Amino acid sequence: MAFSALNIVRSFSSSSVMNLALKNVTVIGSGLMGSGIAQVAAQTGHNVTLVDVSDPILKKASSRIEKSLERVAKKKFHDNEPESEKFMKETLQRLKTTTNTADSVKEADIVIEAIVENMKVKHDLFKTLDKAAPKSTLFASNTSSLSITEIASVTDRKDRFGGLHFFNPVPVMKLLEVIRTQETSDDTYNKMMTFGKELGKTTITCKDTPGFVVNRLLVPYMGEAVRLLERGDATARDIDTAMKLGAGYPMGPFELLDYVGLDTTLFILEGWHEKYPDNPLFQPSDMLKKLVSEGKLGMKTGEGFYKHQK
Ligand code: CAA
Ligand code: NAD
Repeated sequence: MAFSALNIVRSFSSSSVMNLALKNVTVIGSGLMGSGIAQVAAQTGHNVTLVDVSDPILKKASSRIEKSLERVAKKKFHDNEPESEKFMKETLQRLKTTTNTADSVKEADIVIEAIVENMKVKHDLFKTLDKAAPKSTLFASNTSSLSITEIASVTDRKDRFGGLHFFNPVPVMKLLEVIRTQETSDDTYNKMMTFGKELGKTTITCKDTPGFVVNRLLVPYMGEAVRLLERGDATARDIDTAMKLGAGYPMGPFELLDYVGLDTTLFILEGWHEKYPDNPLFQPSDMLKKLVSEGKLGMKTGEGFYKHQK
C-alpha cells in the first residue's frame, strides 16, 4: 500500500462504533517507538496523529509501519487476503502524519511523547504542548529512564500526566508499564490503565523510580555484559549464545543493545550515573561511548556490536 494512504483524510468510521476511553491519540516522535505506538493504537480503533520534525522522517516511519502491519496481518489472517487487506486499509485510514506539533494536539484525548531521551528537549516540547492542548487532554511520556515527575514539572497539568512505557517492538511486546507520580490523579491513572488494555497490552503499575521495573533490571544487565566483553572474558557472540541457551532469553545482551539502540542505552546509563555516581551498576563503559561517538548505534545505523543490513 502506498505511503500516500497515510495522509488521506482521517476516517472515524471504525472508532465511532467503538466506545474507547481515549479515542484521539497523538504520538510525538515517529522513531522506533513512536511508530510502533501509533501503529498499535490505530490497529485497535483509535484515531492517531503521528508527529515528527520532518516529512522524510515521517515517510520512513510510514514505511516501517506498513511493513510491520503486513507481518501483523499475516499472523492474524494467514492466507485470507481480503480480510488482510481490509485490516491494513482500515488501520492506515485511522493514521495521519504531520510536522505541526501545536495543531496535532487540538483534538487529542491523550498525547504520548516518544522523542529523544533528553530532559531539556522533552521540557521544550511539553511546554509547547501544554499551551496548545485542551485542558482535559492527558499527557504521557514513553521515557525509558527519566523521571516522569521532572518531565511533568514544566506543565500545568501534573495531575493529568503519567508514564506509559512501551517495549520494542511495540506491536509484539505484550507489556505496558503504567507509571503514576505522586501527583497523577486516580482518574488519569484509571484512564491510562484502561487505555493500555484497549491497546491489547498487559499493564503493570510502577512508581516513578529510575528505569521503572524492566529497565532497572535490564540496563545494568546489558552494562555488565559490555564490561565482560571489555575485559576480554568472552566474545560478544559467545555471551549472546550463553544468555540465549543458558537463560532462555530471546536475544543475547549485544543483540538486544543493537536492537534497542546504543545511543538510547548510553543516554540511560549517563543520566543515572550523573544522578547516582556511587552506583557501579550505572557506570557507562568506554566501549559503549566509543561506538556511539562513531555513529555505531545498532540496527538503526547498520552497525553496533554487530553489522546489520539496513
Ligand atoms: N512488527 C510486527 N511483527 C513483528 C515485528 C514487528 N516489528 N517483529 C517481529 N514480529 C513478529 C514476526 O512477524 C513473528 O511472527 P510469527 O510468530 O507469526 O512468525 C514474531 O514476531 C517473531 O519474529 P521473528 O520470527 O522475526 O523473530 P524472533 O522470533 O527472533 O522474535 C523478537 C523477534 C520478538 C524481537 C524477539 O527476538 C524478542 O522478543 N527479543 C527481545 C526483545 C526485547 O527484549 N524487547 C525489550 C527491549 S527493552 C525496551 O524496549 C525498553 C526500553 O526502554 C529500552
Ligand atoms: P528514535 O531516535 O528512534 O526516535 C525519536 C524520534 O523523535 C526521531 O524520529 C526524532 O526526529 C523525533 N523527535 C525528536 N525531537 C522531536 C520533537 N521536538 N518533536 C517531534 N519529534 C521529535 O528513538 P526511540 O528509540 O523511538 O525512543 C524514543 C523514546 O522512547 C525515548 O524516550 C526512549 O528512551 C524511549 N524508549 C525507547 C525504547 C527503545 O527500545 N529504543 C524502548 C522504550 C522506550
